[in-house]
Amino acid sequence: MKRMKEFLGFGIIGCGNISNTHALAVSEIADTKLISVCDILPEKAKSLADKFDCQYDTSIEALLSREDIDVVCVCTPSGMHSKHAIMAARAKKHVIVEKPIEVSIEAANEMIKVCHEEGVLLSVISQHRFDDDIVRLKEAIAQGKLGQLNFGGSHTKWFRSQKYYDSGDWRGTWELDGGGALMNQSIHYIDLLQYIMGPVEEIFSYCTTRAHTNIEVEDIGIASVRFESGAVGVIEGNTAAFPGYCTRLDIYGSDGSVIIINDKIQNWNLKCEGVTENDFGSISNNEEFIRSGAIKGWASTPGVWHTSHKRQIQDVIEAIQTGKTLKITGEEGIKPLKIILSIYESAKIGKPVTIK
Ligand SMILES: NC(=O)c1ccc[n+]([C@@H]2O[C@H](COP(=O)([O-])OP(=O)(O)OC[C@H]3O[C@@H](n4cnc5c(N)ncnc54)[C@H](O)[C@@H]3O)[C@@H](O)[C@H]2O)c1
Repeated sequence: MKRMKEFLGFGIIGCGNISNTHALAVSEIADTKLISVCDILPEKAKSLADKFDCQYDTSIEALLSREDIDVVCVCTPSGMHSKHAIMAARAKKHVIVEKPIEVSIEAANEMIKVCHEEGVLLSVISQHRFDDDIVRLKEAIAQGKLGQLNFGGSHTKWFRSQKYYDSGDWRGTWELDGGGALMNQSIHYIDLLQYIMGPVEEIFSYCTTRAHTNIEVEDIGIASVRFESGAVGVIEGNTAAFPGYCTRLDIYGSDGSVIIINDKIQNWNLKCEGVTENDFGSISNNEEFIRSGAIKGWASTPGVWHTSHKRQIQDVIEAIQTGKTLKITGEEGIKPLKIILSIYESAKIGKPVTIK
């Protein structure tokens, strides 16, 4: 009789900034074990391995040849995701790939196709879908508590220094970063916007580079959006908002509105919970549902930053173990990519772009 495995083995490809979050999340989940991490720079692989008491490799092939690895987290630069995810899938490993899924639809589709062919799961990180307050908002909308959704706004008012863009050859390039403020930083809240409001139908945008040199991509991008539902909205993606402000999601419905700032509900005003109408608008908020908290120029509270990554990785583990459907598949990962590529296209041609 085949013995049940005692744990699910994990490997990480790419030991840069985000790898620590994956390693920390995996290390806190029961019945999982981080087996090995790999980077082309041996010192980075060794440093992560030392911190999490696992092995390390200096080639992807070596990591993938390990039979005790079941799931691989792809944490390399964005334009390498498809290549590395496909290598992992061909080695029969389940794949968790960082956002964006890839920098082109073609490369993303190839990744999805190969994972399907090999019978392995593919999940694309969009950790904020697992934030407590996003889950709460999504549930309220499903229960009809906001009524008809009329407007959705997604704002990422961040700052990245010139030193940040200079810190890696891939940063700020079309080939490997796939874009700038929108593709790298704002994608989180752009994904939340379409996750909450539904599919985007048409976009008109402007993109520009104002605060940085030696980058090919935008550091400010704005777009007017029309959703398939007929609702409208705006997207702002910024890495030039010195010294760095908040992320903000505005959802206004006929029966209620919610504003989320830095991943936390700041305003929660629903008719069904007693908020009343005033001919000229109300300045009183429903105090019971307003959470206080300092608004900082960074997206999450230090120390709990990996919590939503952990929840997404747990979702993948559950899908492996029970066969349930993944919450964020490759197809889901393509949705924000299509919106962002359409923003770039509209800015380039100076006309609205319809998303197919
Ligand atoms: N979900 C999030 O909140 C979040 C946050 C940061 C970054 N990311 C995403 O994670 C990815 C990596 O970003 P980062 O900031 O960690 O980048 P990084 O430059 O800090 O790390 C990338 C690492 O990949 C390694 N690498 C490159 N080619 C390799 C190869 N062929 N084999 C093995 N290793 C290789 C590099 O040496 C580097 O250490 C990007 O796609 C980014 O968008 C997601």
